[in-house]
Amino acid sequence: MSEPFRQPIDACTRYCAVFGHPIKHSASPAMQNAGLAALGLNWRYLAYEVEPENLREAIAGAKRMGFVGLNLTVPHKLLAVEMVDVLDESAKTWGAVNTIRFEPAGNGIIRAHGFNTDAEAITRALREDLGLELRGAKVLLLGAGGAGRVAALKLAAEGVSELHLINRTEAKAVAVADEIRTRSPGVKVSVGYPRAEVDLVLNATSLGLKVEDALPFDPTKFSLEKTHAVYDMVYRPAETSLLKVAKLAGCRTANGLGMLLYQGAKALEIWSGQPGPVEIMRQALMENVYGH
Ligand code: ATR
Repeated sequence: MSEPFRQPIDACTRYCAVFGHPIKHSASPAMQNAGLAALGLNWRYLAYEVEPENLREAIAGAKRMGFVGLNLTVPHKLLAVEMVDVLDESAKTWGAVNTIRFEPAGNGIIRAHGFNTDAEAITRALREDLGLELRGAKVLLLGAGGAGRVAALKLAAEGVSELHLINRTEAKAVAVADEIRTRSPGVKVSVGYPRAEVDLVLNATSLGLKVEDALPFDPTKFSLEKTHAVYDMVYRPAETSLLKVAKLAGCRTANGLGMLLYQGAKALEIWSGQPGPVEIMRQALMENVYGH
C-alpha cells in the first residue's frame, strides 16, 4: 500500500505505537496509519520489539516522549495491568490492558490510563461478521488461554445460555468455568463437548496458524453439522482448515480479522476522541494481511 499521509512528518508530529514480542508480523501499523491519515491527524503509529522485562521502562519512555498512546500485544497485556497509573473499567473487568492513553492529570503530570478493547471487539465481530445474537446462544469455545478466557467471560456477560469449554490443558478450562460460575451464575457452563446442537463454535486456540496444524477440536467427539456458525480468531491464513470444513458443513463463517479491526478502531477512538474510520482501516488491514 502507498504511504497514506499527505503531510510529511515534522517537528509537531505525535506518535502512537504497539509494543510486543515478537512484533514483526503486526498488521497494526498499516491499519492504524490508514486510520490516522483518514482522520487528518499529524500522528504516526509505530511498532517496537519490547521484551517483557523492559516493558515498564518502555511505557515510561513513551510517556516522557509525549506519545499519544500505546497498544500492547503478546506477551504484555497482563503485565501492563500493574504498570499503568489508572485502569478503565474495561481493563479492570477483563484483567488485561491492550490500550494505553497518555493524558494530562493536572499540574503538568501525564498519567497512563489503561483500557481493554479486545473483549468488545469479540462480540462486535460475532454480531457484525456472523450476524449472531449472543443472548441465549449456545456456544462451544475452543481454547482457554489468554484470548479464550476473555472470550468466555465476555460471552457469559453477554448472556449466552450455554458455554461448553474445551482446552488441551483441561485444568485451564476448569478454572475458566469456575470463574464464570462466580461471575455469571445464570450461564450453564461445562467442560467438554456438547451432545446437542450449538449456535456457534469459536476457536480461540492458536491452531490453524500453520497449514500443518490439526483441527482445534476432536472430530470423533463433535461434528460441525451440529453448529450453525463458526468463528476462528486466527486470520492468517484467511481460510484455516477449520473454516474450510465449516463451510463444507454449511456453516456461516468468519475469521479473526474483524476482531483485530474492531479492537484497533476502538483504540483509535480512545486516543483521538473520534470514531475510528472502520472501512478505511479494514481495507488497509486486508491489503497488509492478504495483499488485496
Ligand atoms: P493467547 O493469548 O493467544 O490466547 P495462549 O494464552 O498461549 O495465547 O493460548 C493459546 C491457546 O491455544 C491455549 O488454549 C492452548 O492450549 P493450552 O492451554 O493447553 O496450552 C492452545 N494451543 C496451543 N497449541 C496447541 C496445540 N498444539 N494443541 C491444542 N491446543 C493448543
